Amino acid sequence: MKIGLMVGREYSFPPAFIDRVNQLGRGHGISADFVKLGGTRLGEPAEYRVIVDRISHEVEYYRGYLKHAVLQGAYVINNPFWWTADDKFFNYAVMARLGVAIPKTVLLPQKGYPADVDILPESLRNLTYPIDWDALLDHVGRPAILKPYSGGGWKHVYKVHDREELIAAYDGTAPYCMTLQEFIDFEQYVRCFTFGKNDIVPVAYDPRARQYIVDHHYLTSELGARVVRDAQTINNALGYEMNTIEFAIRDGVPYAIDFLNPAPDFERDRITPHYFEIAVDKMARLVIDRALSDNVTSPWPRWEEMLGLGPAAGFIGAPGRRTSP
Ligand SMILES: Nc1ncnc2c1ncn2[C@@H]1O[C@H](COP(=O)(O)OP(=O)(O)OP(=O)(O)O)[C@@H](O)[C@H]1O
Ligand SMILES: [Mg+2]
Repeated sequence: MKIGLMVGREYSFPPAFIDRVNQLGRGHGISADFVKLGGTRLGEPAEYRVIVDRISHEVEYYRGYLKHAVLQGAYVINNPFWWTADDKFFNYAVMARLGVAIPKTVLLPQKGYPADVDILPESLRNLTYPIDWDALLDHVGRPAILKPYSGGGWKHVYKVHDREELIAAYDGTAPYCMTLQEFIDFEQYVRCFTFGKNDIVPVAYDPRARQYIVDHHYLTSELGARVVRDAQTINNALGYEMNTIEFAIRDGVPYAIDFLNPAPDFERDRITPHYFEIAVDKMARLVIDRALSDNVTSPWPRWEEMLGLGPAAGFIGAPGRRTSP
């Protein structure tokens, strides 16, 4: 059985992960390598039992390939269908309903649109104008955070103190859709690595220096337990199995700030050698477990049910699917 890895500009994780899967998987007939693609024929079988995707948010062809691979029976981490559908505003809304503490958040009309999209005044008849910025700021409080409703890498993240700063920042955000969010003046900040939906590794993090810190006593056991429970709730609701979930802790309450990080940073230099070793080992064990498991369900949507194909079609999760190497 083959495990495939798809990666972008990262250096330390890919070779270490491939070596570890090859080492731990050898006895099970499992090997790992980079996925190689040069045009995907409709209906061609997936060569891989499990694919780890760390780059399809930037390469559209890869996302198209991965959805097709799921249909052919590959198990893809993370689920390309949900990743395509998800955004930060919706995932805040889901998690608020499930009892996770979420900062007050507003979804904003866009400042502008992509250059190749023809937007005329009639195209925007559903929008009211002008926006009542004061009312929105009154709702989320001052200062506030302005950030993309689906983004990463700290791009277009602004802290604004008043209406003037908000409008000045907002004016530079086209074509992105933005959110305005309550600023959590935190005492502590944690980023949780998650391996599978329930294996959660909370890490002390200094967001100002963007630095991970090895400190095993950073959280009280009570707070640590809540952070782990909330992170599990998030992954189980949204289906992520490789993720980073961030909490800003204010007055002892962990507010979930960003949990749409399905290709988390695993570079040794940035996450520290200690957490790098954990990430390599847990990711390798996760994919081997998924490859060997008879019981993992294929990612949403349940194509085998929708298409009426049943177990014979050989989807992961179907009885008797276990494949010998
Ligand atoms: N509501 C908030 N209150 C306080 N700080 C915030 C808030 N939202 C974002 N931040 C700060 O801004 C940083 C970036 O925000 P966020 O994580 O949402 O963006 P991102 O582009 O996804 O970043 P990353 O690449 O680190 O995942 C956070 O690490 C945090 O320090
Ligand atoms: Mg992020």
